[in-house]
Amino acid sequence: MKLFASRVLSLAVASYAAISCAAPIQDDQTIISLPITLGPWELFKDEKHPLRMNMTFDDVDLNGLASKTLTSFGPIDLDRFEAVNVTAAINKGLMHPKDTDSAVSKPNALHSIPKKIAAPSVLRSNLGILAWMNLSPNFDLVSFAVKPVTDNSEYAWMSVTVWQIDYDEGVPRNFDDIYIYFPSVNGTYDVFDIEPREYFEGWGKNVNYVEFSVEAGDDFKPLDFTIDNIVIDFHKLEEDK
Ligand SMILES: *[C@@H]1O[C@H](CO)[C@@H](O)[C@H](O)[C@H]1NC(C)=O
Ligand SMILES: *[C@@H]1O[C@H](CO)[C@@H](O)[C@H](O)[C@H]1NC(C)=O
Ligand SMILES: *[C@@H]1O[C@H](CO)[C@@H](O)[C@H](O)[C@H]1NC(C)=O
Repeated sequence: MKLFASRVLSLAVASYAAISCAAPIQDDQTIISLPITLGPWELFKDEKHPLRMNMTFDDVDLNGLASKTLTSFGPIDLDRFEAVNVTAAINKGLMHPKDTDSAVSKPNALHSIPKKIAAPSVLRSNLGILAWMNLSPNFDLVSFAVKPVTDNSEYAWMSVTVWQIDYDEGVPRNFDDIYIYFPSVNGTYDVFDIEPREYFEGWGKNVNYVEFSVEAGDDFKPLDFTIDNIVIDFHKLEEDK
């Protein structure tokens, strides 16, 4: 598959408004409620990368439901995402049978919530939890496995924009976006398990806010997508200085 890079200034302006209202500074309440906020998640079990989190979502308890809105996962907050048990969602007709491969690790994946609205789904630092853990608010987005949902378009594009927001000043410092091209294959799209920095050196390093969105076909129709196995490296606070 092809991968293209770009830096688009108009996108920076459009996204800035969304960020300034969507990224609240966490208060003490969040820190106190840490164990509840965390839930069951696998963090820092990789001996080679002691501060690496591999978000497979397979331990997220859906209480027997096919899907549930997910707003946080350890020190990462999420906007416009739900955790889905892919098999259950397909059985209930909530997902297309051709999207069974979207749970790259089984049984769960994340599914975007925007539906027909062109709003990106977001991963962002929970500043309160990261400070409590003595970790930098900035992380490295290493890799993820994505797939646009099955649709009758001939192709789809995913854009992934990483931001480093200066929360003290309340302004974005840097952003960098990539576009991923998905041709339709037999009426669906392939899962793309991608480590963008293999293509673009330094991409996704020291960021704290990530936007994902998909548009399909010649008319740029907003399309949902799934994502799984999101790998993030954190840093000790002192390494940031
Ligand atoms: C993340 O976890 C999945 C499921 O266990 C595994 O297949 C994948 O290799 C892991 N990724 C990394 C980078 O460790
Ligand atoms: C996921 O859904 C399938 C089909 O409904 C069910 O058999 C399975 O137990 C569910 N897995 C979890 C972890 O809930
Ligand atoms: C498309 O589906 C047909 C029939 O199931 C299969 O033979 C073919 O290999 C598929 N093509 C691709 C590119 O997956």
